[in-house]
Amino acid sequence: MRIILLGAPGAGKGTQAKKLSLKYNIPHISTGDIFRANIKNGTELGIKAKEYMDKGLLVPDELVVELVTVRLTQEDCKRGYVLDGFPRTIPQAQALDIALDRTGERIDCAIEVDASDMAIIKRMSGRRACPVCGATYHIVSIPPRKEGICDNCGAELILRDDDKPETVQKRLEVYHEQTQPLLSYYKDKGILKTVDGVKDADETFKDIVAILGAISA
Ligand code: AP5
Ligand code: MG
Repeated sequence: MRIILLGAPGAGKGTQAKKLSLKYNIPHISTGDIFRANIKNGTELGIKAKEYMDKGLLVPDELVVELVTVRLTQEDCKRGYVLDGFPRTIPQAQALDIALDRTGERIDCAIEVDASDMAIIKRMSGRRACPVCGATYHIVSIPPRKEGICDNCGAELILRDDDKPETVQKRLEVYHEQTQPLLSYYKDKGILKTVDGVKDADETFKDIVAILGAISA
């Protein structure tokens, strides 16, 4: 199963992608997570990406496309994958199509996790992330078992640099301008489905699983 998760920053893509990865035993490929890992390790890519991410801007396509298309050729992607945060622009989607054409593969489903800007702004200030394993929580709706501590690895949770309210606002603007056009792109291909991302995360997950079940039946 090859799945793309679309949706605004904070809509819940990462939350749903992790659940999908576990259920279907396919890798969760998050370009945001890849960049954050590079920033943490001080790589050249990380240094370049941080410049854009901290301003709420997209990292230039040329830095993203190769990274992902190479990742998709790895052995663990043979059975499928869930893409979270890629593609994010029309040129990225076109580059993905070209890469898939080469191997005769196709995306089974592009799922939009839908949430209003207002719901997102309310949510983002409550997000806490694990800087070590990448798990995400919400202080009210999806809290860790022990306050401020990651359930998986015991690290201290942080507020992401780009979750400051003014940066969230910019990320939403960028989403509407550059990423939202992908909804029509995948609708035209007949593979777009939309789920409500504002309800309980487990309920949203059930909706996604039902959609995928219907596709693979
Ligand atoms: P990225 O890491 O992809 O960030 P994003 O798209 O802005 O999305 P988020 O990770 O902020 O939100 P999410 O939808 O994953 O929501 P989450 O599940 O955490 O990218 C970061 C940056 O990297 C970009 O701004 C850009 O600069 C760069 N970048 C990445 N990919 C790129 C690309 N392809 N091209 C160019 N640049 C790129 O949920 C949010 C919060 O809500 C959490 O606290 C969660 O616990 C909570 N929550 C989730 N679901 C629910 C629910 N149903 N009810 C209540 N709370 C919920
Ligand atoms: Mg995410």
